[in-house]
Amino acid sequence: MSVPERVVWAVDLLDPWPDERILEIGPGPGVAADLVCRRGARLLAVDRSAVAVERTLRRNAAHVASGLLEVRAAELAALDLPAGGFDGAFSVDVNVFWTRSPAAELAVLHSALRPGGRLHVCFGPTGPQPPDRITTAVGGALRAAGFDDVSVRSEPTGLAVSGFRAGGISGR
Ligand SMILES: C[S@@+](CC[C@H](N)C(=O)[O-])C[C@H]1O[C@@H](n2cnc3c(N)ncnc32)[C@H](O)[C@@H]1O
Repeated sequence: MSVPERVVWAVDLLDPWPDERILEIGPGPGVAADLVCRRGARLLAVDRSAVAVERTLRRNAAHVASGLLEVRAAELAALDLPAGGFDGAFSVDVNVFWTRSPAAELAVLHSALRPGGRLHVCFGPTGPQPPDRITTAVGGALRAAGFDDVSVRSEPTGLAVSGFRAGGISGR
């Protein structure tokens, strides 16, 4: 399977380091999961779809075997995660962040990030909606959820809204 440019762009933005603890929401086929683990980061990938979980596991069997990757079937809003257990979190093309209020989902992510931890909510550049409609909604939701330094990137390869959990040393 080819690697979509938007996924490469999102992982470059996340810039995971070896041994960092990263959370991915909605891995789908598991392409970004592979790129993150190839950089030596430890990843928990969570998808509510059993098919997506199966695809991510199949594509990334070596990373599971090496202990870098765990894949879990769950709705983000229902996830029970250790508080402050992650250095970074990201998603690519997961629409829950702008199609309705994502307060419950962002509360889970905010609590799961360590102080200074980063969140990147990423999207491909093409879609039925104008980019501003997505980035304005996601940016407002991140601020309302308590994320700091919320910023927007809108580039030919992708869109991203990023924020940090307050306190500590900010991630990249
Ligand atoms: C459009 S796909 C994107 C897949 C992959 N990130 C990519 O860019 O190719 C969205 C994925 O997010 C998952 N998803 C959507 N909302 C979710 C939620 N609230 N909790 C967990 N997974 C979710 C879907 O099951 C699906 O696998």
